[in-house]
Amino acid sequence: MNQLLIRPQKTPLRGTISVPGDKSISHRAVMLGALATGVSHIRNWLPAGDTIATLAGFQALGVPITIDKHSPTAWDLTIEGQGLHGLRAPDGPIDCRNAGTFMRLAAGIMAGQRFPVVLDGSEQLRKRPMRRIAEPLAEMGAQITTTNGRAPLSITPAALHPIEFRMNVASAQVKSALLLAALYAPGETRIYQPGPARDHTERMLKAVGVDVSLDGDWVTLRNPGDLVLRPLDLTVPGDISSAAFPLVAAAIVPHSEITITNVGYNDTRTGILDMLAQMGAQFTVSNQRVTGGEPAVDLTVRFDELHSADIGGPVVVRGIDEFPILTVAATQAAGKTTVRDAAELRVKEVDRISVLAGELAKMNVTMTERQDGYTVHGPIHPYSAVVDSHDDHRLGMALAVMGLVTRGETLIQKAACVADSFPGFVETMQSLGANMAWVD
Ligand code: S3P
Repeated sequence: MNQLLIRPQKTPLRGTISVPGDKSISHRAVMLGALATGVSHIRNWLPAGDTIATLAGFQALGVPITIDKHSPTAWDLTIEGQGLHGLRAPDGPIDCRNAGTFMRLAAGIMAGQRFPVVLDGSEQLRKRPMRRIAEPLAEMGAQITTTNGRAPLSITPAALHPIEFRMNVASAQVKSALLLAALYAPGETRIYQPGPARDHTERMLKAVGVDVSLDGDWVTLRNPGDLVLRPLDLTVPGDISSAAFPLVAAAIVPHSEITITNVGYNDTRTGILDMLAQMGAQFTVSNQRVTGGEPAVDLTVRFDELHSADIGGPVVVRGIDEFPILTVAATQAAGKTTVRDAAELRVKEVDRISVLAGELAKMNVTMTERQDGYTVHGPIHPYSAVVDSHDDHRLGMALAVMGLVTRGETLIQKAACVADSFPGFVETMQSLGANMAWVD
């Protein structure tokens, strides 16, 4: 089923839910588990399109992984780590499907292997910029060729050495690719980040015994030359990027109140909460704890009138994946919401500024674009429309939440991609009483 039908939500959303495990952490857990020496145990691992691509990729690299599929939205993995030098050559190109995180982080790992590899992916992934990792990896000595700056990437064996690198965009994927390559580069690798890009790689590297530190905007990894990674034993917290969809739904559907338990609360990821708070959203944070080296909380959100906000600066990178759903909140907020400093949105799964503007226009919502952002005037009562996810999971889910506050029915085409990051999205929303269903 690839179409999602949403009807205007006449009743409040109510209930307590959890969301599947964090996507960024799930990718990294497979990678570091594969490179560790010994057996890693990962619980509440996210079985989504993107992360399954990573799992299949590391199986193709000779890593035995036992999967306990105890729920369709949470798997437990047992990974027999092969050590930093124990991966084996795959039979053919590795298919990263739609997963930019897999391709960029794996490029860093593959740069240090003793066999050649080709990393390829979907048509969508083949359009995304790869020079941002290929160039600094080449500076470390990697032999890596792109296809006009894009995938497929071809990587052949080479000796790596550490570098000092200044990222010009705050990208966790670039930072992580270099940190993973640095596991094969004896010495001190230093990376400057011009903003607080998510730090899951650093946290997990520390958990497996690697010396990584943050000093101001510089991340340093010290590799003594004979690194052996300890296995992981972790429970993945819920993905705040997935929680953002029910969270905004409850914030804009009158009289709603919901609780989402066990949501990752890493400060490099909580930009969405700060942006929603700026718009007057009402939520409370409780039961703070640490799971798998990452903070997690329960979030309760209740409907209230929202107002516009001026959004820019470091909060953008801390909530970079949440702009499609934040924009839905902005359409329901009184006044003019402005987003700045967000040019990175143009190189995500799709150009999330122009594609979102195009789809919202079908619902009679005007988003005025600029190169690095846009403005939206609210509150708007959107029209019923047939819209398209463009195979972008977060666009699909944002449009679904938008459908709850339209005047009539919303049909989302190509909606199956929501499972790239949030398996069970529709069922989770239905459990809160949301008026949405798959149709043939
Ligand atoms: C991610 C980093 C971000 C984010 C993506 C996941 C990661 O990308 O948008 O969804 O897991 O490292 P950039 O590093 O390109 O900003």
